[in-house]
Amino acid sequence: MKIGCPTEIKPQEFRVGMTPDAAREAVNHGHQVLIQKDAGMGSGFSDEDYTTAGAHIIATAEEIFATADMIVKVKEPQAVERKMLRPDQLLFTYLHLAPDPEQTHDLLESGCTAIAYETVTDDRGGLPLLAPMSEVAGRLAPQVGAWTLQKANGGRGVLMGGVPGVAPAKVVVIGGGVVGTHAAKIAAGMGADVTVLDRSLNRLKYLDDVFGRDFKNQYSTAGATLDLVRQADMVIGAVLIPGAAAPKLISRAQLSEMKPGAAIVDVAIDQGGCFETSKATTHGDPIYNVDGVMHYCVANMPGAVARTSTIALGNATMPFMLALADKGWRQACSDDPHLLNGLNVHAGQLTYYAVGKALGIDVVSPSLAVKQ
Ligand SMILES: NC(=O)c1ccc[n+]([C@@H]2O[C@H](COP(=O)([O-])OP(=O)(O)OC[C@H]3O[C@@H](n4cnc5c(N)ncnc54)[C@H](O)[C@@H]3O)[C@@H](O)[C@H]2O)c1
Repeated sequence: MKIGCPTEIKPQEFRVGMTPDAAREAVNHGHQVLIQKDAGMGSGFSDEDYTTAGAHIIATAEEIFATADMIVKVKEPQAVERKMLRPDQLLFTYLHLAPDPEQTHDLLESGCTAIAYETVTDDRGGLPLLAPMSEVAGRLAPQVGAWTLQKANGGRGVLMGGVPGVAPAKVVVIGGGVVGTHAAKIAAGMGADVTVLDRSLNRLKYLDDVFGRDFKNQYSTAGATLDLVRQADMVIGAVLIPGAAAPKLISRAQLSEMKPGAAIVDVAIDQGGCFETSKATTHGDPIYNVDGVMHYCVANMPGAVARTSTIALGNATMPFMLALADKGWRQACSDDPHLLNGLNVHAGQLTYYAVGKALGIDVVSPSLAVKQ
């Protein structure tokens, strides 16, 4: 198969769909890998890294879209890229179609087959191609929160780990899923006094069994949340209710009860955020002040550490990418129901029910589409 990997063109996107290691694996499986010139630069991979791995460097995205059987990307195809997609071409990338009727329409019209990273599943009911980015954002949250807490940035001037004789920062993590667990691990590793809140007793039991000595956990009621948030130096928002906007757990009025200069890192901002005062910010201008409380609300946190994010994503996508290339998408999806769950579009038909429901478009069963 000819596998093409164009440069990402969405603003502020520095990741790349294939690492040199992924390219090497594909070449070892007998495939031809076409990488757009400088596609890996934002993640610290040179064209030479790819040619050493056996890939071919191609000057333009147009040439890649014109010749590749499968396109491997990171972000959803932008309008100019969608125009270049061909019938019988396979697209493997994040799509997030439900809130994006324009993209959905263009993909249907292109006739391509599109498998979305975010809907591929695993045996434990998780989303294995979404989890790496939650891991990155979770581990990054205490790091950016610690920076936000510094006096020069408007913070309280509290050091995460304290020093002998001085108490550490109090960190509260709301939501103990993938983001929250990774955030709590890093905050505890920095020496902070950490408490994780969650609504799932099973999740709390897991956190207690595995991390009971590293950080505390508490059931998330409105009262317990407010109590802990009042005492906190840093609050990390990490809740998710699948398919819904994040619940607003701290109101504007309650914000004034927080310590002056406390830091909020609202990772859940991509679902609207769990503080009433949260609004999305960018890496260029990440923090703002409301009532003396510093807010960090960057919606694409993994972009700050593009190299780590690219490698983490590449590790997760590689086995699926190889299966698709080795067997073709029909056989690969027939063999693996989790990959089949990733099928969103095929030959002008929508094949993912939640997207159909959100956009009012008829859906063809993915298991039927595979046989067409
Ligand atoms: N800003 C970014 O760059 C970025 C990057 C990755 C993920 N995210 C977002 O971070 C959020 C968390 O993602 P995740 O992968 O950890 O999800 P997850 O499903 O693994 O975890 C969410 C947790 O929230 C808990 N929860 C739900 N309601 C709650 C409540 N009222 N109080 C306390 N806990 C509650 C759930 O029980 C679950 O354990 C999502 O909105 C995700 O989109 C943002």
